[in-house]
Amino acid sequence: MSRTAGPHAPAQPGIFITLEGGEGVGKSTQIKALRDLLAASGREIILTREPGGTPSAEALRGLLLNPASAFTPLADLFLHFAARADHVERLIKPALARGAIVLCDRFYDSTMAYQGYGMGVDRDDILRLIRMLGCYPTLTFILHAPPDVTAARLAARGGGADRYERMDHAMQARIAAGFRAIAADEAVRCALIDASGPPDAVTASIAAILHDRLGIPQAAHP
Ligand code: TMP
Repeated sequence: MSRTAGPHAPAQPGIFITLEGGEGVGKSTQIKALRDLLAASGREIILTREPGGTPSAEALRGLLLNPASAFTPLADLFLHFAARADHVERLIKPALARGAIVLCDRFYDSTMAYQGYGMGVDRDDILRLIRMLGCYPTLTFILHAPPDVTAARLAARGGGADRYERMDHAMQARIAAGFRAIAADEAVRCALIDASGPPDAVTASIAAILHDRLGIPQAAHP
């Protein structure tokens, strides 16, 4: 089976942008910066996340992230796809059909990295589920940073770690390698961003790619 999930230029009027990466790469900061950058386009912007994004998918998120849950890797896979199906059908596809820019914090590349590369679920099976949904990002930013940087950020964040943040170092390393492999396999859709520097520098890299690939002006960054 081909290693790429689907078409890079979906036949829809909207633009679907996803942000991906392992734990502690600084996604939460950059998703807000991305939203500010996209505001310059003057188009409707939908900011959403996975797992979650609709009431039912958010309920599944609660189960998935709860440290008391003990799902097997396949059960984990199906729960993520159950949440995703609801999110895609109720929110993402309708928004793209009316021409919105949908900005999503994580999408199916997280499933490939966490459940596939990290937990060992068959990656061709995951590709089949991705194709069943038939919803492909236009552009995906994959943030990456060395383990010492991400560990320091997670420690600084404090608070109770969720089920995935509690995974051991070997699993985190497989996930990070998985994201790099996805970026290499799908270089037309994905942009691998060095997220080890200060947040402004990371945002500048993202802005440059938004400009080069989608023609979105760079001056919007405050
Ligand atoms: P986050 O929104 O804080 O990044 O937390 C979501 C967690 O869920 C994160 O640790 C990665 C994990 N996850 C998966 O394992 N598979 C998936 O398909 C998605 C969307 C997230």
